[in-house]
Amino acid sequence: MDLAQIHAAFRRIAPYTHRTPLLTSRLLDEFFGKRLLLKAEHLQKTGSFKARGALSKALTLENPKGLLAVSSGNHAQGVAYAARVLGVRALVVMPEEASPLKKAAARAYGAEVVDRGVTPKNREEVARALVEETGYAFLHPFDDPLVMAGQGTVGLELLAQAGRRGVFPEAVLVPVGGGGLLAGVAAAVKALSPETLVLGVEPEAADDARRSLEAGRIVRLTEVPRTRADGVRTLSLGERPFAVIREKVDGILAVSEEAILEAERLLLTRTKQGVEPTGALPLAAVLEHGAGLPGTLALVLSGGNRDV
Ligand SMILES: Cc1ncc(COP(=O)(O)O)c(C=O)c1O
Repeated sequence: MDLAQIHAAFRRIAPYTHRTPLLTSRLLDEFFGKRLLLKAEHLQKTGSFKARGALSKALTLENPKGLLAVSSGNHAQGVAYAARVLGVRALVVMPEEASPLKKAAARAYGAEVVDRGVTPKNREEVARALVEETGYAFLHPFDDPLVMAGQGTVGLELLAQAGRRGVFPEAVLVPVGGGGLLAGVAAAVKALSPETLVLGVEPEAADDARRSLEAGRIVRLTEVPRTRADGVRTLSLGERPFAVIREKVDGILAVSEEAILEAERLLLTRTKQGVEPTGALPLAAVLEHGAGLPGTLALVLSGGNRDV
């Protein structure tokens, strides 16, 4: 996945996505003693950046009959939205015990939720059987170069927006779960501004990306991590994202649950932005690791789908 592919993804998805704003806050800057640029992906279509990757992939498919995804969160909504753009049906496989709210959100975006008899263990199997049965195209949430290139458009946009203001981000902080967003943003940023640091952020309870980078191989968690950042409860990085992250990412920061909650609170009270826990990870990293970070930081606020 290179810059040309990210530019191509941008051209595909541009008619169907928002150029989300790059927000600033004098109050936050004073509080942290830094200059913060907030890439507001919680204001993206479907409430998260996931619409970018889903559309990037879906728009390359030739006459798909429908789209199929395994997800209990933002990817489901991204895929449902992409299916609506293409005018086809979306099937989302979710465990029976998944939150009724998340099922309702996927349905509200037009997806059909398949959950009868589905468990976290058998859901991939159920999805494979459904792909065979329906002939729908399977969209992986992160382990796919076209999805990663779509997520990388966040990096393209934020550098262009910062450049127009004459601001140079010394580091970009990105939430990391399966690694599609981090890999895409790192590929874009390192191609355009190699001296800008790219840092992933994950909860301490789900620090597999940090350990994977240290070990030089993918380290898997053995159990679903207990963290309020529900977008990054993945057990491991995907192989394709890891290959990019290993080469281009400068480091991974882990943050406590308290810092995530405090970051959400600061975003709501100081900037009036309703960001979900996973989207608040980068600001949590500034709270806990700020002393070791440069002065001008771009933070990817990746989503806003929270259970109010
Ligand atoms: C809001 C939000 N931020 C970040 C992520 C992590 O993205 P990735 O799996 O590409 O690392 C997710 C994944 O679902 C998410 O929903």
